[in-house]
Formats: sequence, C-alpha cells, structure tokens
Amino acid sequence: MSSRLPGFHRQDIAGRRASLAGQGLLGPGDAEALGSGGISALDADRLSENVIGILSMPLSIATNFVVNGRDVLVPMSIEEPSVVAAASNAARLVREAGGFEADADPPLTAAQVEVRGSPDARAGIEAILRARGEIMAAAAKAAPEIEAFGGGVRDLEAREVVLGTGERVIVVHIIVDCADAMGANTVNTMAEASSDLVARIASGRPGLRILTNLADRRLARARCRVTLGALASYRGAAGTEPPAVRDAVIAAWELADADPYRAATHNKGIMNGVDALALATGNDWRALEAGAHAFAARSGRYRSLSIWGRAPDGSLSGSLEIPAAVGIVGGMTARHPVARLAIRLARIEKARDLSMLVAAVGLAQNLAALLALSTEGIQRGHMRLHARRSS
Ligand code: MEV
Repeated sequence: MSSRLPGFHRQDIAGRRASLAGQGLLGPGDAEALGSGGISALDADRLSENVIGILSMPLSIATNFVVNGRDVLVPMSIEEPSVVAAASNAARLVREAGGFEADADPPLTAAQVEVRGSPDARAGIEAILRARGEIMAAAAKAAPEIEAFGGGVRDLEAREVVLGTGERVIVVHIIVDCADAMGANTVNTMAEASSDLVARIASGRPGLRILTNLADRRLARARCRVTLGALASYRGAAGTEPPAVRDAVIAAWELADADPYRAATHNKGIMNGVDALALATGNDWRALEAGAHAFAARSGRYRSLSIWGRAPDGSLSGSLEIPAAVGIVGGMTARHPVARLAIRLARIEKARDLSMLVAAVGLAQNLAALLALSTEGIQRGHMRLHARRSS
C-alpha cells in the first residue's frame, strides 16, 4: 500500500475511489456510504436531540504520509479550502527524509472527583491516599467492561486546590486506562460512582465529578525533518534559497513561541489537521481542542505546541507534542459507517495508532502553514500553490 498517489487531486471523485479500491481499501458497499454521507435522518435522530436533518461535510484523503516507516492515507473532514492539499504537500516534503516518527503514551484519562467542606484538606488527602485501594476498586466496579478490553483503573492521586474565595478543596484524580476508547463515558461513570465514598473518607461532601480534558498523560508526539533539497521547492516569489527558507520557518516559530497572539493562530493551524482527522474518525474534536490549548498554556504562558529548529545536517527539524485522547471504539466512531470506513482507510488498529497520526497530521499542517507564511504569504502560497504542488 502506498500513500503516494500522484495526480490523486486531479482525478474526479469516482477516479479517487477507484484508486483506493485498486489498493484494496474500498469494498463494494463503501461507495454507498461515501455517497450518502453515511447516516439517515433517522440515525441522526438517535444520535442527538431535536434533530431536523443532516449536515454533510466533505471527506477527503491527505496523501504522501509515512508514519514510523509505514505509508498511511489520512482521512480528513474539513470545509476550509487548501488544508488537505497543504497537509499532503508537507507530508511529501517530509517523506523525502523518511517520513514522520511518532509515539504515544498509554491511553490514560483522569476522572476528577472534587470534595468540598473537608475540615482539614491535608488530613483529608492523607485519608484518601490511605484508602486508595478501596476507592480504585469502587471506581472499577462501576465500569467493569473496560477490563475486558485491556483497560481499567490504574492509579489515584489527590491534591489541594485553593479557590478564588480562599476555600480549600480536595481534587482526586482517578487514572483510567481507556484501552481503545476515548473513554469519557467510562471515566465519568467511575467518577460519579466513587464520589460519595471519596467525600466520606475526607469527611467532606461530594463536589464535581467529571473527566479532565487536559489529557497530559495521553500525549502523542511526532518528529520530522525536511532536507534542504526538499525545501528547494519553496524558493518563494523572491527566489529565496533553501537555507533562508529553513531559517524563515524557524523565525516564524520563534514568534509563535514568544507571542500568545501569534501562538493562538499557529496552534489553530495545527488543529486544522487534528480536528479534520478527529471529525473523519468520529472523535470528539472539542475535547482535543480543549486539551491542546490547555496544554499549550501549561507553563503559565500560552505558547506554540510545536518546536522548529535546525538539525545538525542543516535540514529543518520539527516536533509536536499534543494531548491526543482519541478512540476507535464506542461513541460516534462505532455508530457512523463513514467514521468506521475512515479508520479502516487509515489502517488504524489501536487507539494509540490514531493518537500518533493526530500528532503527525498536526505537525504536517503546521509545517505547511509556516512554509507558506514565511515565503509567498498565506493568500497566494497557502490557498493556491499548495493545491498545485501536492501531487
Ligand atoms: C488558517 O486556517 C491557519 C493558519 O492561519 C495557521 C498559521 O497562521 O500558522 C494559516
């Protein structure tokens, strides 16, 4: 299977489907789901409330991706022109140096259980930690099905949080391995089931019980290099030489890392790719957005999620670390035939594969944007040239 599909963007929809079928990636029933959008109004009515119809979105394939030595087609659902072409183009440049390297943490998500009114928060925390096993067992009992999939409760932490009013509350994190699920339902069930016990142990009363979207134990990382040879296609209107293009990308990153106003836009470009992949695979892109931006501000200042620099051999090197709480079972992924098809097209077998792809696509999208911004500018470079160069 190759993700290098020259001329894919010049084909019509039927031709593109035929290319995928030729690689054994589309079966006879798939055209129907792709043509109709996958769900009926009745299906939609079962997914949400007060439904009056269906809103369709494009489903595209970003080409040229190699992740950990393996060719991958990236399903993306996004309405903004040039995003898919830009990702494909950046992946082609990175491919020349061997593609993206990626890794991902185990799929750990934390349930937050708040305790209010404990007479002594520190003593409450000590009591909670002493009863760690009992609390973890109570949480596990509430959603035992996750263990059959290889997941389960893994750890417990407790800390004191001082509110704006000066009140001291206890926040307990029950750490759950969500296996191949995103895990929000499982984790929320566990938080609700264990909160009375936790509050009783700390001699307080239960407060909020909900997962945290700051999924900083579920990070995915991607790294890439772009050779000076590959950068030669980015001379720009001024005929800029490859080392100057490289340095301009690094300078563009420096601004994003120093200025939150620029960082917001820079990270938005990363999320263009992340959200498009999340939507195509039926994942909760709002959770990814929340996690990414909170993570970007973890130092107390909102910064770039990516890092760009100069590799020892003179090439451009980039890396991205991002919370990637995504799943491939349950939720919309299970219920939407096009989301299931998207997972199959990307040959994703484990949720961690999808997390790694999230990081690779985010980094590719960022590279494309920085190249365009630091050469021709976004209007000419990003909106038009990328589309032409992506073959
Ligand atoms: C547009 O959707 C995304 C960009 O603004 C990202 C960036 O500025 O880095 C091009």
